[in-house]
Amino acid sequence: MHYTAADTWINDPNGLVYADGVYHLFFQNNPYGTDHSNMSWGHAVSPDLVHWRDRPVAILCDANEQIFSGSAVVDHGNTSGLGEPGTAPLVAVYTSHHTDKSPTPGIEAQSLAYSLDGGETWRKYAGNPVLDRGSAEFRDPKVFRYSAPSGAYWVMVAVEAVERKVVLYRSDNLIEWTYLSEFTSTAPVGRIWECPDLFPLPVDGDPGNTKWVLIVNVTYEEGRGGTAGLFFVGDFDGVAFTALGGRGSTGRQPEWELLDYGRDFYATVSFNDVPDGRRVLVGWMSNWDYARILPTSPWRGAMALPREASLHTVDGRIVLRQRVVAGLEPGGASRSVGRTDIPAGTHPLGLAWGSGPCLIEATFDGGTSAEFGILLRQGGAEATRIGYDAERACLVVDRRASASTDLGPSFPSRETAPVELDGGSLELQIYLDASSVEVFAQGGRVTVTDLIFPDASSTGVALYSEGGAAQLTGLTLTPLEDTPVERAAESLRAEDGRAFSRSRASA
Ligand code: FRU
Repeated sequence: MHYTAADTWINDPNGLVYADGVYHLFFQNNPYGTDHSNMSWGHAVSPDLVHWRDRPVAILCDANEQIFSGSAVVDHGNTSGLGEPGTAPLVAVYTSHHTDKSPTPGIEAQSLAYSLDGGETWRKYAGNPVLDRGSAEFRDPKVFRYSAPSGAYWVMVAVEAVERKVVLYRSDNLIEWTYLSEFTSTAPVGRIWECPDLFPLPVDGDPGNTKWVLIVNVTYEEGRGGTAGLFFVGDFDGVAFTALGGRGSTGRQPEWELLDYGRDFYATVSFNDVPDGRRVLVGWMSNWDYARILPTSPWRGAMALPREASLHTVDGRIVLRQRVVAGLEPGGASRSVGRTDIPAGTHPLGLAWGSGPCLIEATFDGGTSAEFGILLRQGGAEATRIGYDAERACLVVDRRASASTDLGPSFPSRETAPVELDGGSLELQIYLDASSVEVFAQGGRVTVTDLIFPDASSTGVALYSEGGAAQLTGLTLTPLEDTPVERAAESLRAEDGRAFSRSRASA
């Protein structure tokens, strides 16, 4: 159900673009192993964001550079001149992370690669890099087409990571870039900023009322939980982004909010060019605090389920909602549980379905309970607790007893996400897979994405309530089809590994 490589490492989604009926997912990939090195762009395609097919590695690292994160556009007007008559190039804008062997060791600058065959094969642009600030922390360009009244141009948002700044540039041809502006938060958040994105969305579905969402992925200070994504809501006038909230603003809009309150939703960016103005986000389902030691095999690293984002007015401010894209298929008959009282205590439900993927949709009435909800993957002392803390008015996802392996201090966590009950009622959608849980509360108003590593035998489901009684209004568990990724004919890893060793040795 979740995209992973066959037998290699992946991190950030890159180059998300829809072109000619195909969703392209590129991603940070080590084609030769399961550690974070040899960064290259892997590639998979999908007609529907559910069924994925692996393609050959798109842009391979070499002796001079690792291919760090970035984006891709379809250059319809051949503004770059990299196309051919009748063929608009697909242009990737990526960060050249220069190695010690390069003439500019340590420098991060932005470069281009292009494809004339729908993303199958790629050539690096001969004039790389196209944008160099002489910085060692300038990375993760997201490029999109901006339509101004005076004409359209390309906009790039990237980061100066340790300065916690988003920097904006414009270009007419993707090759020459001019500085526009920079953005930072009024109260510093995080230690490092990475992987920004900027896109418009109608508020309440009204095309006459558009706001812009700026996503920034942040690494926190040591011991603060690792990595997470956040977003600012505001305006973009073709030059600068201004947040609605923050210091100096008088309204009810917070300056920023977490995109997801879990520990495993990072480097999240959105697709360019999805039809009908839909905004689809993909996050890497991991956290730099423990990404390198995750106990999965033979692959390491997975993408969260693609989500569609929308903006809504609630209580005089704008909120973001997320929901998993349509199209996941049931993998068996649904099971339902009707209205059930939950007295204080833990009450097993006879709903074991193994450890395969499933969707659990449940509605609760909080009653007199201080905390109520559901325990999943329960067995012995193990359980993943998903509930609602009525006193603090927040969704709770507690994975402190969700893994038998030691994954360091950031892993055993209890997440809380502020969200109100609706007339006393909590509505949850929980996408559960073998080693992850993605929780959407109150129609996606808040979400929590966490990895879990329970024992395969821990398959119990139970309801719980503390300090009073709650009620389950109803629950449906639908097993989901595990939609395996269609792998490339032969393993790219071994083949290319030999070629790579040769080119490295000769460099
Ligand atoms: C985010 C990140 C990016 C960088 C890439 C390297 O996870 O650190 O800033 O481009 O990963 O793999």
